[in-house]
Amino acid sequence: MKEKNKLFKALTAGAVFSAVVVAGLLFGSKPGLADNDNNGSQDEKQMVQIGLTFASSAGIQLNMNHKDRDMVGLGSYLVNVAGDCNGCHTNNPATEYTPTGNPYLLSPVFNGTKKINPATYLGGGSVFGPLPGVDAAHPVPIISRNLTPDKTGRPEGGNTLSDFKLIMRTGKDLDHAHPSCTGSGPANCLGFPFNGELLQVMPWPNFQNLTDRQLEAIYTFLSAIPCLEGGPGEPANRCK
Ligand code: HEC
Repeated sequence: MKEKNKLFKALTAGAVFSAVVVAGLLFGSKPGLADNDNNGSQDEKQMVQIGLTFASSAGIQLNMNHKDRDMVGLGSYLVNVAGDCNGCHTNNPATEYTPTGNPYLLSPVFNGTKKINPATYLGGGSVFGPLPGVDAAHPVPIISRNLTPDKTGRPEGGNTLSDFKLIMRTGKDLDHAHPSCTGSGPANCLGFPFNGELLQVMPWPNFQNLTDRQLEAIYTFLSAIPCLEGGPGEPANRCK
């Protein structure tokens, strides 16, 4: 009886194995090369590819000079596909896409191919809030910043990689755009209980969990996109 059981087990195991192989052949996936095999490095390769494809199909011009292609691709994935940075860092939801490339609209206004508006891509200027200021007469709008590289080639107004990591990990506003109110001012101050030293609205409490490599990839991607003029606190002619 025991022997019979063993034989039965061996036979069924063999049958299951051949069924898996046959299914693999039928569905075209080679064993060990499944679309997602929970192998981290393969997942990252897919993200790199998805990021590069997204950028080229959405019409985002990239300057790849002196840049690691994989890091640009991974950064594009995190910025465009997962992080939706441009959802907030565009100028206005109405101009996020080109007039015929807006996938939220019906045909024939939408021509079927999503196309990001290069004139507003990550240039900042979307207005959120307002949050309370020093008193009811001084509400404080929260305005997304320009993340594009300036003439230094470094992203978001020339910030270094270590500044960028600090911002993404802690939310510290290095530009002090809206300090906390002390007494009766200053005019642009954020009222209690908001911490004016920290970026508001910006999802840094989520992004702070990204790895160093992922933050470096975002930074690399943001230095590969075209410079745009404008955005809160930016000097004139930041591109040249
Ligand atoms: C929900 C909207 C939103 C999303 C999504 C978002 N941001 Fe922001 N971000 C903001 C706002 C608003 C500010 C300015 C906040 C303030 O002034 O308090 C900001 C500020 C920043 C700053 C500070 C800029 C500076 O000059 O110091 C950086 C860097 C930044 N965002 C990067 C990113 C990146 C990278 C992504 C995507 C991975 C992203 N943001 C996604 C809304 C957003």
